[in-house]
Amino acid sequence: MTHPLFQKFRLGQLELANRVAMAPLTRNRAAAGNRAASLTAEYYAQRASAGLIVAEGSQVSPMGQGYLATPGIHSPEQVAAWKVVTDSVHEAGGHIFLQLWHVGRVSHVSLLPGGAAPLAPSAVTANTKTYLGQGFEPVSAPRALEVSEIPGIIDDFRRGAANALAAGFDGVEIHAANGYLIDQFMKDGANMRTDSYGGSIDNRTRLLAEVAAAACAEIGRDRVGVRLSPAGPINGCADSAPQALFELAMDKLEAIGPVYVHMIEGITGQTRDTNPVVDFAALRKRYSGVYMANNCLDGAAAQAALDDGRADMVSFGRAFIANPDLVRRLRDGEPLNQLDRATLYGGGAQGYTDYPALP
Ligand SMILES: Cc1cc2nc3c(=O)[nH]c(=O)nc-3n(C[C@H](O)[C@H](O)[C@H](O)COP(=O)(O)O)c2cc1C
Repeated sequence: MTHPLFQKFRLGQLELANRVAMAPLTRNRAAAGNRAASLTAEYYAQRASAGLIVAEGSQVSPMGQGYLATPGIHSPEQVAAWKVVTDSVHEAGGHIFLQLWHVGRVSHVSLLPGGAAPLAPSAVTANTKTYLGQGFEPVSAPRALEVSEIPGIIDDFRRGAANALAAGFDGVEIHAANGYLIDQFMKDGANMRTDSYGGSIDNRTRLLAEVAAAACAEIGRDRVGVRLSPAGPINGCADSAPQALFELAMDKLEAIGPVYVHMIEGITGQTRDTNPVVDFAALRKRYSGVYMANNCLDGAAAQAALDDGRADMVSFGRAFIANPDLVRRLRDGEPLNQLDRATLYGGGAQGYTDYPALP
């Protein structure tokens, strides 16, 4: 019998073809004006047999951009370009959410309007690098957001959610992971604030809750997911006591009610081991919605996570870059194409739309 991983699954109002998601993957191939490129429609349509595609992180405002040639979701031209992508995925029978992104301090003055300093909870430079086209460069020193500016950030996400629906997406995923703005507010290694957005874990999870609530109010809880990465450091962002912090984050999300939480279990793309240890099963228990597990999984581990009740859905990142027909390969036990790391960021069709599907 076919494993439940490969059977239909209800996510809010959507009936997904299976429980396998394509994780959000930045590819730095956007066209002028940070519009999704025409090749992007083909790239995602090739991967439409995923139960759900979570399209790459897309900045909700010009100040939310942190890498060269990432797509946005704040201008009418960007919405129109994304509509071509969502139409092609829907024609191929798939479902697609858009990841809403504000990078916060993980940016560079050369990418930001008027050469502005990146925005952050506190004026602490991240120990990380960004992609500027000719390779990776250290990020710029940020400035701390005034408390009066925070409603504007929440509104950027709210408008991003509305724009995503206008562009034909089935929903949005709020990027609250990987050391970007919302994660920077949560983790005590990046947030030194002394106002109502810093200090206690209640204060540090305030922005997450406000953004999630605003997106849910705008487009409906059934259309909103949230991505978290409790472990660290990632992009130079870590917390000294992540278990209590993320238990509270899950409690708040339980009350707000987004349809799924997409959990990066471990250090993104590196390891499932964490220090300090994060008890993901305990986090999951606090939230009754769909729990999507990610990070360094293979087909056997994904099936085991479902069998053991540790997850409702599973996502794959790198394997989906190299295997447009990943679901079929996992289901039939077929070998996987190898990932070409040299073509991950920037460029054209090579390493993007030319990975072969099985005949
Ligand atoms: C090229 C590349 C780009 C990525 N871009 C994003 C992104 O835009 N948003 C995000 O939340 N995670 C991003 N990630 C992390 C992946 O979504 C995923 O969490 C990670 O690859 C671990 O999953 P895997 O072991 O199945 O690859 C990216 C990873 C890679 C390799």
